[in-house]
Amino acid sequence: MNPAEADKRFLWHPFTQMREWCAPDHDPIVIVSGEGAVLRDDRGREYLDGNASIWTNIHGHRHPRINAAIRAQLDRIAHCSALGLTNDIAPRLAARLIGLFGTEAGHRAFFASDGSSAIEAALKMAFQARAYRGEPLRTRFISLGGAYHGDTVGAMSLGHSGAFHRPFAPLMFETTEVMSPSCYRCPFNRARPQRGADARDTRECDWECIGKLRGALDKSGETTVAFVIEPRVQGAAGMLMQPHGYLERTSALCRDRGVWIIADEILTAFGRTGAMFACSHEGVRPDLVALGKGLSGGYLPLAATLASGEIFDAFLGDYAEFKAFFHGHSYTANPLACAAALASLETFEKDKILQRLPASVADLARAAAKFWDHPHVGDVRQEGLILAIELVDDFDSRRPFTAESRLGHRVCDAAKHRGMLTRPILNTLVLMPPLCATPDQLRAMADALWDALCEVLPR
Ligand SMILES: Cc1ncc(COP(=O)(O)O)c(C=O)c1O
Repeated sequence: MNPAEADKRFLWHPFTQMREWCAPDHDPIVIVSGEGAVLRDDRGREYLDGNASIWTNIHGHRHPRINAAIRAQLDRIAHCSALGLTNDIAPRLAARLIGLFGTEAGHRAFFASDGSSAIEAALKMAFQARAYRGEPLRTRFISLGGAYHGDTVGAMSLGHSGAFHRPFAPLMFETTEVMSPSCYRCPFNRARPQRGADARDTRECDWECIGKLRGALDKSGETTVAFVIEPRVQGAAGMLMQPHGYLERTSALCRDRGVWIIADEILTAFGRTGAMFACSHEGVRPDLVALGKGLSGGYLPLAATLASGEIFDAFLGDYAEFKAFFHGHSYTANPLACAAALASLETFEKDKILQRLPASVADLARAAAKFWDHPHVGDVRQEGLILAIELVDDFDSRRPFTAESRLGHRVCDAAKHRGMLTRPILNTLVLMPPLCATPDQLRAMADALWDALCEVLPR
């Protein structure tokens, strides 16, 4: 049985209609190797990794420094428990991360293996800390419309992503949803759509999104534990991009009311938006930060929850008080994954990745400009190395294509045949290349997507 046959016989893929996947005419791509921003399949075909292997990869595949760090660690030990023990790698990584975030003394890092678990830990830490601090009324969370924070039950409860969460509604706890600050489809934005212009720049509004959050915070009084936000870009919601200044304003509102901020930087951290962390753009210091995806450079499953000293201190007490954080994972602080993460952070420093990013961001913007020429492109938005192209049935009214049209899917399928892999979010096309992609690769990714779009939806 070849790998594709074995896959179709034995694997269950996430977010996938398995009847389609297993259909006789479906021929899955079997990736066997990669280098930089290129993936190779078992037939020797090459593909540009247009979504950085589902938003994880930073410095490219088979990066020599990260490979060497993993190998060196493997020669010492792959895994040992962090219950009652520590290792010589995880504390170094914790110190680096806390240092990078520019947080004050007292901060702590808690390690997990995936983003959902990092969010789950953040919400449980915040909830438990409120109780220990004598604030038992603070039991509610506020989060954004369309939010996606992962697939564990707590993370789903913080989310408001219809299709993903609807089947589990009876399992989830209630959270307060406030409007997503996404200008292109904002009901309060009075500006007409303009070709070539980012709706965030042309918007005509009175920051009603901020007013909505203020209203929710005031209504909830002293019952809110924390406001949870994907800073600057809501990923799975459709790469919805927030007007600059939203984050700073929401942070001030929360601070004034003693509400903690949980920043879900699982998608946005590690250079993705042009800075190490999306929160840094607006000088926002969250009380809890969830990191994942790019933390290990996209090499191994690793996530972290960074907690403020204030939250950490709430758990301190005598043994018999049982105030420990009752949450943990077998692979917490896994040395192999931590070694990869340290090598990734070292690469940021040694190769001056952040300093080189503006050039790549500008290259991607230049390559993306032509999408405005397509009559069915409603919005082209970019934040760092995240590019979203929203397809619409009608430009002037912003009328979306139906989900049934599967246009996003069909365009990405056509791009695949042009040697570029990415996944749409419904009818929004997404390019999110590894940070190491060269100018030629960025252009080739955009060209493949453009040609695919023109094939599926001729101009
Ligand atoms: C913003 C955000 N939060 C959380 C998650 C969940 O992370 P994971 O898939 O590693 O569990 C994702 C995954 O896409 C994400 O984009």
